[in-house]
Amino acid sequence: MSEASPLKLEDLPAGWTVPGHEILVIDRVSRTRQAVVYKARQSSTGRLMALKISLAVDVDDVGRFKREAELLQQLEHPNIGSFYGAGVLQSHPYMIMEWLEGESLSEVLSRKGTLTPEELSVVFSGVCDALQYAHSRDLIHRDIKPSNIFIERTGEGSKARLMDFGMAKPINTNLELTPAGFVLGSPAYMSPEQCTGQKLDCRSDVYSLSCVLYECLSGRKLFIGESNMDAMYKHLHEQPIPIAERPAFSKVILRGLEKSPDSRYQKVADLRRAWEREITKSRFLASLRAQSVLIIPVAVFVVVVVVFYLVGLYQKQ
Ligand SMILES: Nc1ncnc2c1ncn2[C@@H]1O[C@H](COP(=O)(O)OP(=O)(O)O)[C@@H](O)[C@H]1O
Ligand SMILES: [Mg+2]
Repeated sequence: MSEASPLKLEDLPAGWTVPGHEILVIDRVSRTRQAVVYKARQSSTGRLMALKISLAVDVDDVGRFKREAELLQQLEHPNIGSFYGAGVLQSHPYMIMEWLEGESLSEVLSRKGTLTPEELSVVFSGVCDALQYAHSRDLIHRDIKPSNIFIERTGEGSKARLMDFGMAKPINTNLELTPAGFVLGSPAYMSPEQCTGQKLDCRSDVYSLSCVLYECLSGRKLFIGESNMDAMYKHLHEQPIPIAERPAFSKVILRGLEKSPDSRYQKVADLRRAWEREITKSRFLASLRAQSVLIIPVAVFVVVVVVFYLVGLYQKQ
């Protein structure tokens, strides 16, 4: 298709080829206000790819998309999707990434409602690996939420991938506002310091990640606001309701949700260690319970045998 006939970028037909790349569109998989994502195939290799095109018109949003592409090129990690290429279509930047088979954590949650601590551990450790890698390069993600965590199905099981680095920024950069004067982020998962537009460091990602843990274990969002402002107000002033069904894990998560960054886990690694300690404890208790299922009948059997033996001895006398 020539550049002369304008394309509807949000509605590309199957079989359309990205100029300059041998990438054929198969199907649209996601569309938000900012971007559209297509499943595509590289005709020379047959490999599946994801084509993400910016739909933004605002210069800042376009700039963010370009930065995401630049960042992805630099990030190489097993829990972050690989980058294949980038370009511009009708003044809209696009990027090509490796195709991941699976579903986002938000889709998993709408299907299952909650995850058990064991199920959540697989997701959590992959996200922690990716985040610790980003933080070690002085980069904060700033948009940790279930729809930006992808659960890839692999031959060996499932693997979490951290997606969408469109909001990522170097640690301690200044407040960034939208043209309408709002701070950037997803209100349901924003740290108190993000809500007030302060300088952020990795503790802000610790808070957002704790919001995700809270939602996965309890099946409800930490705070539900009638508006974005309302949700942000709650992050600043409302205390989280503990997860009654999982008191030990709840305690860990609530520490990650402290309003003051100084009172929170200072690093993702600290949150991770506290979580893993609880996992180890719960596995130990589960194994004790499993053993008691065996031990009690065996003990009863032994007691019965001993009693019969003693009664036998007594009767002989
Ligand atoms: N590499 C990929 N492989 C498979 N699906 C993807 C890929 N990238 C994005 N998607 C799908 O598109 C959705 C939106 O992607 P994301 O990068 O978060 O875009 P947005 O900036 O519009 O939020 C994801 O939740 C996922 O379902
Ligand atoms: Mg996203």
